[in-house]
Amino acid sequence: MKLLITGGAGFIGSNFIRYWLNKYPLDTIVNLDALTYAGNLENLKEIEENKNYKFIKGDICDADLVNKLVKGIDLIAHFAAETHVDRSVMGSSDFVRTNIKGTMVLLDAAKNNDNIRFHHVSTDEVFGSLDSNDSAFNERTPYAPRNPYSASKAASDHLVRAYFHTHKLPITISNCSNNFGPYQFPEKFFPLFITNLIEGKKVPVYGEGKNIRDWIYVDDHNAGVDAIIKKGKIGETYCLGGETELQNIDITKKILELMGKSGEMIEYVKDRPGHDFRYAMDITKAKNELGWEPEVSFEDGLKKTIEWYKNNEEWWRNIKSGKYQDYYKKQYSHELKK
Ligand code: NAD
Ligand code: DAU
Repeated sequence: MKLLITGGAGFIGSNFIRYWLNKYPLDTIVNLDALTYAGNLENLKEIEENKNYKFIKGDICDADLVNKLVKGIDLIAHFAAETHVDRSVMGSSDFVRTNIKGTMVLLDAAKNNDNIRFHHVSTDEVFGSLDSNDSAFNERTPYAPRNPYSASKAASDHLVRAYFHTHKLPITISNCSNNFGPYQFPEKFFPLFITNLIEGKKVPVYGEGKNIRDWIYVDDHNAGVDAIIKKGKIGETYCLGGETELQNIDITKKILELMGKSGEMIEYVKDRPGHDFRYAMDITKAKNELGWEPEVSFEDGLKKTIEWYKNNEEWWRNIKSGKYQDYYKKQYSHELKK
């Protein structure tokens, strides 16, 4: 198979490319990524010489480029997005542009080139926020996004489904819960807290830390996407999650314990505006129809993640200092001048 991966220089996309080439070494991958602040080619260093892998720096909103790249492609796996909720609170426009318009450009290119198989990577946040006693989200839960990030992802899901009904585009969608693991950009909860503690800094817990997320190790998410690509029913949505609901404060205490730090390192800070209280996924459909389920326990995943950040200080220190972007300025200076 020849795959076009969008957003493959980000956290989940880069782990997906590594996962896929390891499992299906005869497949070829084209990775289209704009290298926004969240994209980092250091994430893919060990495969950049692989003859079945090619990186293209480009924007998914660039219809001419996308139309050229989809020629001969069997499957598009669409990971590219603006992904950080706090950034979407500061401004929505990049989110609307990339997450909605970019998805539309890809869908049109897939439609206009013999209806290429399209897998859309989405999030549990499109379903809104649960109270403590509510049942977990499932594939029939009505959409109720509550922040600009999740609203833009919800719009993209609707577009993907609309192309299935209107144009018979062979699509599938996955809505997954919160991921953690190696190569996650250190603005997100796990990598921010782990790297702050290595640096001797405090960890900023929003509000009282009572919000709940359902955590999944990134390789388990990617194995779920693989299962949908191989066995999923066209036109269907699959909910993926780790079946591990935890309060932020309990995770924080666990990270402190594993890193040998005291509770004094916790700093309670102003809450995120409109902070969704709880996400939880009912993954029965994916288990029954795909034979998929998460395999990495939270405890093991957390230990592996902490070890990875301890062993890859240069990777995250370059990001925190902004140095990682100098590399791209040099490498792509001709394009930046345009
Ligand atoms: P990320 O922010 O780490 O990476 C996003 C990647 O997309 C970056 O490499 C960036 O350069 C690229 N990108 C952004 N705008 C682009 C554009 N216009 N053109 C081309 N490339 C562009 O994100 P992530 O956490 O790896 O998330 C990947 C996908 O998974 C997203 O669609 C996200 O909504 C979804 N998702 C994430 C989680 C999570 O917990 N992180 C959970 C469920 C679903
Ligand atoms: O649920 C899936 C979503 O998970 C993805 O679609 C998003 O792309 C991804 O960013 C993530 O969204 P969250 O907002 O849940 O993740 P974040 O890592 O930003 O925050 C996780 C929880 O931790 C949330 O309740 C807010 C809290 N938090 C976060 C940060 C960055 C803190 O308490 N302090 C912090 O500094």
